[in-house]
Amino acid sequence: MEQTLALIKPDAVASNAVGAIIQRMEREEFRICAMRMLHLSTHEAATFYHAHKGKSFFDSLVSFMTSGPLVALVLERENAISHWRKIMGATDYRKAEEGSLRKEFATALERNAVHGSDAEETAREEIAFFFSTRERA
Ligand code: PPS
Repeated sequence: MEQTLALIKPDAVASNAVGAIIQRMEREEFRICAMRMLHLSTHEAATFYHAHKGKSFFDSLVSFMTSGPLVALVLERENAISHWRKIMGATDYRKAEEGSLRKEFATALERNAVHGSDAEETAREEIAFFFSTRERA
């Protein structure tokens, strides 16, 4: 079984979409192995998105991701990484597929409701960023 790190971003928390998104995770037969709500500091958000440092949208992304609380989860199932990214939909919500979470909940390129790890190595790093071993059931 594969694990991935999912985030319900501050825009989706602010619009009361947490319940609907978690319901979708369960409907897609992900097992929720860990979950917490937290408000990232600027330093934490910049560290989490270090791969995008230097890009034009980096400062704005960090500012958005620290604008309110988010929910972090570890999800497990077969092909968890690719399946969660499929359920999320395209990064640009205007290109997100019908039935995807971003199609339903994103309201701008940056305000795209959810995040998912993009590969096994990043999933390991991102899970460890948010959760200690003890917090993962
Ligand atoms: S890229 O450009 O290929 O590195 O983009 P990607 O790996 O798909 O994701 C970049 C993350 O930054 C967020 N973001 C933006 N991406 C592109 N353009 C703009 N303007 C932008 N603003 C914010 C995007 O939502 C991705 O966030 P995560 O949390 O990884 O989905």
